[in-house]
Amino acid sequence: MTVDSAVSVFDDLPLTKVLLPVLESRGIELWLFRIDQTHPYISGNKWFKLKYNLQAASENGYRSVLSFGGAYSNHIHALAWAAQNAGINCIGVIRGEPEYADNPTLSDAQKWGMQLRFVNRRDYRLRREPEFLEGLKNSLPAEMQPVFIIPEGGSNALAVKGCREILSNRVIEKIKPDQIILPCATGGTLSGVALSCPAVKVLGIPVLKNAEFLYDDIRALINSVGEPDPGNWKLDMEGHFGGYAKTSPELLEFMQTVEDQCGVLLDQVYTGKMLFRVMQLIEEGCIPSGSKLLALHTGGLQGRRSVYGPKN
Ligand SMILES: Cc1ncc(COP(=O)(O)O)c(C=O)c1O
Repeated sequence: MTVDSAVSVFDDLPLTKVLLPVLESRGIELWLFRIDQTHPYISGNKWFKLKYNLQAASENGYRSVLSFGGAYSNHIHALAWAAQNAGINCIGVIRGEPEYADNPTLSDAQKWGMQLRFVNRRDYRLRREPEFLEGLKNSLPAEMQPVFIIPEGGSNALAVKGCREILSNRVIEKIKPDQIILPCATGGTLSGVALSCPAVKVLGIPVLKNAEFLYDDIRALINSVGEPDPGNWKLDMEGHFGGYAKTSPELLEFMQTVEDQCGVLLDQVYTGKMLFRVMQLIEEGCIPSGSKLLALHTGGLQGRRSVYGPKN
């Protein structure tokens, strides 16, 4: 099976208008572009980030792909499914203890054929070091060689290329947004989106604390596809809720309100935090009345199981 035929994503994704009192009172329109609806297992930004990586691995004769993530990583979950369907072996290098192997995310990944390697937090920090990567590759048997490395979160030049395809002209022309807003972790998605819509302002909400490093990382990702920085993007550093994957009762309550009032499920790591921060920015008057906002629902719903249990 070729990578192209491995997965079909829906081209005509829904746009959901968010109806919350704060939006109405300020005359602000907020549309959610539902890329969470692309596919049950590789939803949101995942297929856009993975498709050219898997294509490159497959076309260049790699027998395996290896990547990195935490125990509830959406990237690891999606990669396991996509690699299996593309007929490529897959190894997930997981930050943390082997006890995590039975959690819903990693159980799915193993069911789809991913081999797991657990590394402690200190070693995990070496995940970009060439020597560490060589060691990981060389530890795999001959029948899995050569090994194609996909960085944590899938973010590299091939991911940026894929993420340039997230927003079509159709969506931009339909909504005519003043601003596009999305959650960020490694910045690959924002890099692609900012490049694809140079005439629109793009606001990234990092979900990690102390994420100033993203300014350099995003510029490097944009340059990695041979483009100059379009200069249309910025980051708001106040939406992280204390750190990556940290939540609060207020955040979970807000997510429930959005589900009840708009029928949209959010995840607590990315899209819940992003939308919560958008509401704060509106309340603080940082987003002018009358604005039209287009927020990306980047998926991550499988990660709800870390909070709500395996049925979610
Ligand atoms: C659901 C979801 N949304 C947003 C992001 C952030 O994307 P990026 O790492 O490209 O900034 C991720 C991580 O890849 C994610 O899993």
